[in-house]
Amino acid sequence: MPAVSTQDCFKHADRLNGRVVLITGAASGFGRACASTFAKHGAKLVLGDVDKKGLEVVKKEVEQAGGQACTAICDVTSWESQLALFELGMKTFKNIDIVLPNAGVSEIGRFDQRMEEEFGVAQDRPVKPNLKTLDIDLTGVLYTTRIALWYFYNDKRENPGLRAVAFTGSMSSFYGATMGVMYGAAKAGILGIMKGCIETARSIDVRMVTVAPYFVKTPLLTADFVHPNPKMGYAKLEDVIAAFVGSITNTDDKTNFTAWLIPDDKGVYRMETAGYLVGAEGARRPRASSKL
Ligand SMILES: NC(=O)c1ccc[n+]([C@@H]2O[C@H](COP(=O)([O-])OP(=O)(O)OC[C@H]3O[C@@H](n4cnc5c(N)ncnc54)[C@H](O)[C@@H]3O)[C@@H](O)[C@H]2O)c1
Repeated sequence: MPAVSTQDCFKHADRLNGRVVLITGAASGFGRACASTFAKHGAKLVLGDVDKKGLEVVKKEVEQAGGQACTAICDVTSWESQLALFELGMKTFKNIDIVLPNAGVSEIGRFDQRMEEEFGVAQDRPVKPNLKTLDIDLTGVLYTTRIALWYFYNDKRENPGLRAVAFTGSMSSFYGATMGVMYGAAKAGILGIMKGCIETARSIDVRMVTVAPYFVKTPLLTADFVHPNPKMGYAKLEDVIAAFVGSITNTDDKTNFTAWLIPDDKGVYRMETAGYLVGAEGARRPRASSKL
C-alpha cells in the first residue's frame, strides 16, 4: 500500500483556490482544521454544525486565514436542515464544488452485554439499542451525499473544474470496533456509500474518496474513552488534514475512489480500490472460474 508523504498530499493544494467547500461537523476536530487549512489555500467555506459557538470560532479562523465562510446551524439527521445548508452555500457562493460529509459522534450507548458490564450500565433484560449513532454517522452522510450529487448533477457550468466528495471513514470501516459496534457499522457503511456511487460520480466527473483515520485526539474521544492498544499511539490530526487535501486534489484517476488511511502515528497510506475489493473478489473468483 503506497505511503503518501505530507509533501505529496499538499503538492496540488493550489487546486483548492476558489473552490467552494461544504463541511458538516465543521465546528470542531477534523472539520474545523480542514476549514482553516482549505481557507489558507484559497477555498471558500460553507460550514454546518449543531454547535453555534464553535461555528463562530471557526468562521473567525477562516477569515484570519484570509478566507470567506458562511455558517448555519445544521443537524445532519434532519434532511431539511442539510438542504438549508446547501441552499445557503449556493446563495452565498453560487456553486458548491467539494463536499465533506464529516459530522459524526462516537458510539452512543453500549451495544453488547459485555461492554455494558464493563461500563457499569448492564440491564437485567435486553433493551432496544439507541440508533442515534447510525442516524448521525450513516443516515446523515447518506443525506449529505444525495444532496451533493443532486447539485453536481444539476451544475450547469460548462467546465466546472475540480469537484469531489471526501468522506470521513475510520479504521473501523475495515476492522469494526469492539467498543463501538454501531459506530463501526456506520463507518463500514461509508465505504458502501462510496462504492455504490462510483458509476454515478464517474458519469458526472466527480471525485470520491474516503479518509480513514485511527484514533485522533479530538473532542470525539469522550472522557470514558479507553485506548484499546496504547502502544499504537494516536494518529495525528495534521496527517488527517494532509490526507483530506491530498485525496481531494490529486486528480490522477488511479487515486479516485480510494481510501486514504492514517492507521497509526506514522503518516498517510493510500489503499487502492482493488485493496478493499480483494477479500470479496478473492473468495468469489475461484468459484466464478470453477467448472462445477
Ligand atoms: N477522532 C477520531 O479518533 C476519529 C477517528 C476516525 C474517524 N473520525 C470521524 O471524524 C469525523 C469528525 O470527528 P472529530 O474527531 O473531528 O470529532 P469532533 O467531535 O471534534 O467533531 C465532530 C463535529 O460533529 C458535530 N456534530 C455531531 N453531531 C452532529 C449532528 N447531528 N449534526 C451536525 N453536526 C454534528 C459536533 O458538534 C462536532 O463539531 C467523525 O465522522 C468521526 O466519526 C474520528
